Amino acid sequence: MFQIQCRLWILSISAILLLFIYNITLTLKLMYTPVCPKENPVQRPTRIIYRKCTKDIAGLHHNDRIFNVDLNLGRWDERRKYKLFDNILIGDEYSTLGSSFKTCLASQSSVEKLPSIIEVSSHWNGPISLATFAAYEDELNALLMYILYLRKCDLGIRHKIAFHLALARERRPKSFSIDLDRLETLDCGKPLEVLKDLIKDINKGPNKWRSKLPYPQNHLRNLARKNCQTKYIFLTDVDIIPSKEMAESLDVFLEKVDCKGQCAYVVPTYEVDERVVFPANKTELVRLANKGLARPFHHKVFIYNQYATNFTRWQNQVNEDSAVHVSHPVTNFEFLYEPFYIATDTVPPHDERFIGYGYTRNSQVYEMFVAGYEFLVLSPIFTCHWGLQVKRTRPPWREHQNNLNRKHFDGFKREIFAKYNKDPLNMMARKT
Ligand SMILES: *[C@@H]1O[C@H](CO)[C@@H](O)[C@H](O)[C@H]1NC(C)=O
Ligand SMILES: *[C@@H]1O[C@H](CO)[C@@H](O)[C@H](O)[C@H]1NC(C)=O
Repeated sequence: MFQIQCRLWILSISAILLLFIYNITLTLKLMYTPVCPKENPVQRPTRIIYRKCTKDIAGLHHNDRIFNVDLNLGRWDERRKYKLFDNILIGDEYSTLGSSFKTCLASQSSVEKLPSIIEVSSHWNGPISLATFAAYEDELNALLMYILYLRKCDLGIRHKIAFHLALARERRPKSFSIDLDRLETLDCGKPLEVLKDLIKDINKGPNKWRSKLPYPQNHLRNLARKNCQTKYIFLTDVDIIPSKEMAESLDVFLEKVDCKGQCAYVVPTYEVDERVVFPANKTELVRLANKGLARPFHHKVFIYNQYATNFTRWQNQVNEDSAVHVSHPVTNFEFLYEPFYIATDTVPPHDERFIGYGYTRNSQVYEMFVAGYEFLVLSPIFTCHWGLQVKRTRPPWREHQNNLNRKHFDGFKREIFAKYNKDPLNMMARKT
């Protein structure tokens, strides 16, 4: 009797042990088996899940979901024309950089212009908040693929950039997919060729409407701005390249800056001949300018764009201290001035009624001026845009967008007058 009891006991213990071991084995198996997608490309309705099937692709080794996007979610803009998605992909160090640097670079881009971010990111070591736009499904696929490609090939981009996304309500993509096998084959040494191949069908044939679709610049600017975590923001267009180590030198400047009222720190922008190398410092930039290989941005296209910055005055100060300092204040502010500046993000938002071309950035700068902001030009830092711009005839759709925005501006300037009860540029009497 005792023996039987003992055997039964041993049997139950063994069974429990066996079950326990089995359980552990199953758990381990679940944890370590790669859940590889059978079919390629990986396709899920609105969300792409990526698990460790290939080695460290796009640096996702400790983050198995690629894009934090559910196309059925997102937030609508005020007029329900665009859907916005914050932080669809966040750089590994974006959050840390947000607390160690004082300035975040906020920018926006469509897929075509995205390669510029490679040079921007190699010069700007602080956090970068980048809003992107895609019009329809194929374009979205190309955009997301190119973002992964940039992250795969460029450590700085993988660390520093938080990406955001905006989609238009019309023809909005219902899903997206990424061909991870193709991603692995894309050549890191050829970013322009890779892009060209990815977007070869965009804007063509049945997608020709794409080029006429207004690009929501101001939505994207606000999206990028609002996702910066630093006290100061430097808002640029993606093809505006900051001089080297600007973020660090701004940190030193902003530490001791003493602004009583409302200040915006203007960084002069030059356009530079494609054949030269990026100027290493102001001395070099001025040398290029004297040789006709660099000149104020939009000097020939639309001089008022940057004129008030007073480049003559800026260029005349050479052999100066290399620390960032205020060169001079803007004294001749004029309507349509649109400098790139650094300021706290308490500056007025970019009005989202201006869509496409015309009055997008300068209307915001105009409001700042009426609100009483002082514009102070910094030296020796600067930004460059590649290529000397010449006046070209604008396509009719661009003229059309500009005319629509001009009409909006008429209402906008009245609102600004009502809001601040000031009209320093005598705009109410002026035809715009
Ligand atoms: C500016 O850059 C040039 C060219 O790289 C270099 O020769 C020069 O020493 C630099 N000047 C200063 C003040 O750093
Ligand atoms: C630029 O600065 C010079 C020298 O201070 C001044 O005479 C000139 O009026 C300024 N021009 C503009 C456009 O501000």
